Amino acid sequence: MKGKKYGVGIVGFGGIATACHMPGWQKLDDIEIFGAVDSSGKARKTAKEEFNIPHVFDDYRKLLEIKDIDIIDICTPNTSHFPITIASLKAGKHVICEKPLAVSVKEVEGMIKEAKKAGRKLMAAQPQRFRKDSAAVKKMIDAGDFGEIYHAVAYAMRRRGVPCRDTFIKKALSGGGPMFDIGVHILDLTYWFMGCPKVHSVKGVSCTKLAKRTDIRGAWGEWDRKSYDVEDFATGYIRFADGRTIFLSCSFLANMEKMEDFSTNLYGTEAGLRWPEGKIYTEKKGVLQDIEIRFDSLPNITPHHEEIRAFLECVKKDREVPVKPEESLEVIKILEGIYKSAETGKEVVF
Ligand SMILES: NC(=O)c1ccc[n+]([C@@H]2O[C@H](COP(=O)([O-])OP(=O)(O)OC[C@H]3O[C@@H](n4cnc5c(N)ncnc54)[C@H](O)[C@@H]3O)[C@@H](O)[C@H]2O)c1
Repeated sequence: MKGKKYGVGIVGFGGIATACHMPGWQKLDDIEIFGAVDSSGKARKTAKEEFNIPHVFDDYRKLLEIKDIDIIDICTPNTSHFPITIASLKAGKHVICEKPLAVSVKEVEGMIKEAKKAGRKLMAAQPQRFRKDSAAVKKMIDAGDFGEIYHAVAYAMRRRGVPCRDTFIKKALSGGGPMFDIGVHILDLTYWFMGCPKVHSVKGVSCTKLAKRTDIRGAWGEWDRKSYDVEDFATGYIRFADGRTIFLSCSFLANMEKMEDFSTNLYGTEAGLRWPEGKIYTEKKGVLQDIEIRFDSLPNITPHHEEIRAFLECVKKDREVPVKPEESLEVIKILEGIYKSAETGKEVVF
């Protein structure tokens, strides 16, 4: 296989590809970026002129014809993840795909089936798992420091943080609002902290309360009020087969104290934890204790780069990927379940 180099092709050359994925791939010695695809001429120009990528196309099918490409990195809007992943797997490529892996359970199931059939790796990019504070907490959880984590409260709430691009506010592209954009991050992390249990049922609400209003201003610029057709708030109560629970809330626009609350609170039989602050709450020898973890003593890492490096290692050594697609399936089950429950007003039981 072409000396020791692995060929990479990137589909979707916008924000996340240029800011996070490209620098991540460029750090690695044993890869070569052969191609990039984008439907926008401006993005293709960036790929060619700023990043010197040799093969740049407007259609991902052309990229898949390049034999030297082993890995396809999908950085397009959410609703295109499914068709691009399926075509890439069918072409014999390994796939790392931006979050959410896809926008429905049916799509994720199809992707898992295709990956198995093709014998290729498939992984959702979930960089929160690769943060140094997350990795440290996960080690403590797995060592039993918190006992049984029987409940979690997870927030991905912003006061005035609508990402203004169509990629995030048009359902035809995003598949959903803050739940698919930022809720998926905190849910995946919390779910992983809890050991990835099987989902039993979900009850939820989603609504659009502020995003259509012209008197509400964005801290990150203005969005097209007419195009905006996703929720701006969603909340869900998730019950796992083993009886444990998560309460999740997500918003782009909420009247709240901070500009952002991206956190998870774990409640365990031995101790509780607030992440990312690293505050532990426990009782020892009859005395309540609040303990602070010093994450700053750990070496600095870039989560997006770590996830790319970890994915490549799995491709090279034919190992199971660290974010298993079956885990992403449960996460998407929850998110889809919240939308379904919001529509029907009923609990969705799986
Ligand atoms: N992990 C993270 O922290 C993080 C952060 C931001 C975005 N994302 C995810 O990354 C993906 C892209 O987000 P972004 O911020 O880069 O969006 P973006 O709008 O900046 O870029 C998307 C690019 O894809 C191109 N595109 C759209 N459809 C295409 C198609 N069918 N074929 C080829 N190119 C196509 C667009 O022209 C655009 O250049 C989304 O799934 C999003 O959820 C992840």
